[in-house]
Amino acid sequence: MSRVLDIISVAGARPNFMKIAPLAQAFASEPRIRHRIVHTGQHYDTAMSSRFFTELGIPEPWRNLGVGSLGHAAQTAEILTRFDALLAESPCDVVLVVGDVNSTIACALAAVKRGIPVAHVEAGLRSFDRSMPEEINRMLTDAISDVLYVTEPSGCTNLAREGVDPARVLLTGNVMIDTLLAQLPAARAAGTLQRLGLERGGYGLVTLHRPSNVDDAAVLGMLMSVLARVGARLPLVFPVHPRTAARLKDMGWDAADSTVRLVEPQGYQDFLALMEAAKLIMTDSGGVQEEACILRVPCLTLRENTERPITVEVGGNKLVGRDPVLIESAAFEILDGRAPRASIPDLWDGRAATRICADLVARYGEQL
Ligand code: UD1
Ligand code: UDP
Repeated sequence: MSRVLDIISVAGARPNFMKIAPLAQAFASEPRIRHRIVHTGQHYDTAMSSRFFTELGIPEPWRNLGVGSLGHAAQTAEILTRFDALLAESPCDVVLVVGDVNSTIACALAAVKRGIPVAHVEAGLRSFDRSMPEEINRMLTDAISDVLYVTEPSGCTNLAREGVDPARVLLTGNVMIDTLLAQLPAARAAGTLQRLGLERGGYGLVTLHRPSNVDDAAVLGMLMSVLARVGARLPLVFPVHPRTAARLKDMGWDAADSTVRLVEPQGYQDFLALMEAAKLIMTDSGGVQEEACILRVPCLTLRENTERPITVEVGGNKLVGRDPVLIESAAFEILDGRAPRASIPDLWDGRAATRICADLVARYGEQL
């Protein structure tokens, strides 16, 4: 290796930041790597973006493309165009993308068209639900990526079925769990429960932001009614994603009237503290399903499918879809103490970013 391996990582939306944090740390301690972060600006509120850079010690982005909120086509196209211009001005050896958001596919596409190899972290996950925008982003990103870093065995099976050369695939574990394990002591010291007037095990935690759950007022209204019924037995705390906040506002939802307490989107450590001390978690988030599993807090996923089947297999997560009867009965089962205790998926041990860093140096560094 005669010069350093020059990597640009892409961060765009909230769930990207927890994945980039341990990679940035691993790259910083590897003298053979130069690392720059490009923020696309897909998420931009302090509460959805910059707060996580501060809290997780992520270096300031080298550039911010400032794309902001747009429809799918316009947002993807803007990121593609702006990232392409940036690569034209300042090329690199590898572009690293994480997860399944619009920033992921747009930047992967810009890079591959410029002949720059793309590494995809959290590759191979499939919900098999093409109405989910993230499923399209996952399939397309994997199809054009050069190297695919996978969090759980289903990802390897899916990629093999799609004909991907196994030499391009590596099961590394889960970078999101690297962050969780690293941040747990700080989360425990954050005083979150006290500040919110909560007691350990005395509440349930909710997040909902999937378009299929929140964009249709009838569906969201139905889910809020089920949550209110569960909340009558165990108070629920619901940090509300901005997409959902806008829909609840349109519906004229009256939070004061409900057993579901709506709060602002939480910082990482506060949210981790809230997850760890919850009696149950009800969510449609991808990442939260995994985090609940590690924390061994029973999780109900309000979706018909999951791209993270390992969380169900190890007993940490149950799919309850949008059936109000099923949601309520599954929640009461947990409150009655009848939830299984989850086991921890292989390689979810806090060292996924180190494995990815070592593989990148071995794979691309030697050619320099
Ligand atoms: C995006 C991802 C989704 C991910 C989620 C994580 C895609 C297709 N979707 O969904 O996979 O699970 O992020 O949170 O990439 N908004 C703000 N402030 C912000 C960001 C968004 O108010 O900082 C509002 C805007 O009204 C915007 C809406 O939220 O239109 C949705 O944002 P967008 O990034 O388009 O999709 P998400 O639902 O956040
Ligand atoms: N999260 C957070 N504050 C919140 C809600 C979620 O810090 O109020 C964290 C959560 O712990 C996980 C990530 O955000 O690390 C998941 O992001 P999100 O649910 O937005 O996206 P998804 O994983 O569904 O793509």
